[in-house]
Amino acid sequence: MSPKPRGGKGIREFLEYYVLEMLGEGPMSQEEMISVIERRSRDNERFRPGGSLRIDEREMEGVLRKLAQMGYVRSIEGGRLAITDAGREAFRGMGRIKREAKNSKEEATAKLISILLADAKGKAEGKYVLDVGTGEGYLAFKLAELGFNVLGIDSGEFDYSRDSISRAKEKARGNPKLEFRVADVKELEMEEAFDYVVSSQAVHCMRDQEGCIRSAYRLLKKGGLLLVSDFLVGLKAFLVHGFHSFLALSTEEWEEVISKCGYSSFEIHEVNDFCVVEARK
Ligand SMILES: C[S@@+](CC[C@H](N)C(=O)[O-])C[C@H]1O[C@@H](n2cnc3c(N)ncnc32)[C@H](O)[C@@H]1O
Repeated sequence: MSPKPRGGKGIREFLEYYVLEMLGEGPMSQEEMISVIERRSRDNERFRPGGSLRIDEREMEGVLRKLAQMGYVRSIEGGRLAITDAGREAFRGMGRIKREAKNSKEEATAKLISILLADAKGKAEGKYVLDVGTGEGYLAFKLAELGFNVLGIDSGEFDYSRDSISRAKEKARGNPKLEFRVADVKELEMEEAFDYVVSSQAVHCMRDQEGCIRSAYRLLKKGGLLLVSDFLVGLKAFLVHGFHSFLALSTEEWEEVISKCGYSSFEIHEVNDFCVVEARK
């Protein structure tokens, strides 16, 4: 499957940095830069066919125009572009963003939990939560500790996740608030059973992201809340997680998928390299 050309705010932010990095390696044409990015992100195909990063040509043109106006790149013979001294200087200045970039998974999780607790008005008793792509129960255990009844599911489709549910079950033994099952969210038949569907760092590696988000809608009670924490497509996530971060949905893609699946409201909170998505049924 060939990747869908992508654009939007996060992609532009990444390109304004990465074009200077690529041109620092030598002059290139626009088409060459698009191919280099696609090739360097090819490992993403292991997670989802079509998961490598294909940049939309018009988005690339817009970024190159902006960089040229700023005096950071210039056209040379053969339709290629080269970095200028001002471009090298600007790229060195961006080193600060790279040094300060950090993995904010814990902060994003804290944000997700604070939204959930505020919505539940602090009352966890009697509330049912589904954790999709639970792995070894990273988020499920935190929510059960707060008093929520949690079902953690994982399809275990990757080598690293094959045994995660058996490990989670082992750790949860004797805890009445927790249940773990090997299951794909698209096949779970528990219509309108949950007050909350949550997911931590998992949507980016789902093969059919829209289908899974649609399933979450089906599994939520009316008025229930979907809360997802995942990479925020953009420069910060690229600097921390590399091309893998582009497997995640961008802000614009989230907005489109959420409205297609029928949710009544949508909000996205940025937490450095992560985002927390909030959507109500
Ligand atoms: C990177 S792990 C995240 C684990 C954990 N939630 C965490 O935050 O550490 C993503 C998990 O999503 C699971 N997964 C992918 N697609 C799924 C699906 N359709 N239904 C259920 N789980 C899925 C994978 O098997 C993998 O274990």
